[in-house]
Amino acid sequence: MTSERFKIAVLASGRGSNFKAIAKRCAEPGFPAQVACLITDRPAAPVVAIAEEFGIPWHPVLPGDKKGRLAAGEEERIVGLCEDARVALVFLAGFMRILRGPLLDAYAGRILNIHPSLLPSFRGLDAPRQALDYGVKVAGCTVHFVDASVDGGPIVMQAVVPVEDGDDAETLAGRILNEEHRIAAASIELVASGRIRVDGRRVRINT
Ligand code: GRF
Repeated sequence: MTSERFKIAVLASGRGSNFKAIAKRCAEPGFPAQVACLITDRPAAPVVAIAEEFGIPWHPVLPGDKKGRLAAGEEERIVGLCEDARVALVFLAGFMRILRGPLLDAYAGRILNIHPSLLPSFRGLDAPRQALDYGVKVAGCTVHFVDASVDGGPIVMQAVVPVEDGDDAETLAGRILNEEHRIAAASIELVASGRIRVDGRRVRINT
């Protein structure tokens, strides 16, 4: 009997640099997870070409009329796609639609999100810009479990970068993004290898 690798679905809406970093790591021999599929609300987004380059199946879902929402029934469809592919973990990598219902219920404690700030500071959109405007001296990124709050679930990993005097939102976001790529894959590795235990708000990592 061949043992099946831990399967993940990635949900993404845009450029797809985190998706690419995850797909690359998952393609390395010995990595404990594999990307079963990409699910996107923007079939024309660059992330789709990356999925095709890696031979990863992708599925479009319909955006709703309201900004930031999915069309009625689409979150249920995501659950169906994930269950059909026997997905054990859902990773949100720049997915620009709010999930509040069926996916959170079906995959409670099994959804991760990556956010470009040191949470709980600077939730929501344009986090690197928010950090610059506030005048912080260090910034960074966070991988956290997703619950019904906005960017508020238990934190799995964070990485810190300096804010340089000459930074604008773009240069700071680029520095943060390099760290995102690292901790996105590292968090998946931890979960897939069963090394994570969630204890209230604290995520404990077995060494
Ligand atoms: C990243 O900064 C991520 O933290 C945020 O959306 C951005 C997605 O970038 N949630 P990419 O599509 O992975 O390049």
